[in-house]
Amino acid sequence: MPKVRFIKENLEVEVPEGSTILEAARAAGAPEGDRCGGVCACSTCHVYVVEGFDNTSEIEDEEFDILDKAFDVRMESRLGCQARIHGDLAVEISDESFEAFLDEHPDEAEAARRLRK
Ligand code: FES
Repeated sequence: MPKVRFIKENLEVEVPEGSTILEAARAAGAPEGDRCGGVCACSTCHVYVVEGFDNTSEIEDEEFDILDKAFDVRMESRLGCQARIHGDLAVEISDESFEAFLDEHPDEAEAARRLRK
């Protein structure tokens, strides 16, 4: 199974091939936002795939349209709810996504802040 490492939180998880990065974040306990519930409508799941970008699914037009609304978009940007995993990855959760997670999960905010470098 592919391994996904969340670099700012120093968390690693193995997930079945074809899982999304958002599913991997949930499995790892990594603080990634998902305000729209993972239906490609918000950009709060914005991440950077810093290693293994070729191990992710192709970006569809819908994802490009939503990424357009995200902050600090880079070449390695993806929406965690849309990018499917086909091999090992190292992922950085964007500040935008982390802040969304804090808003969505106030009970977990303190623990999430401690995790993040
Ligand atoms: Fe909203 Fe991914 S969770 S676009």
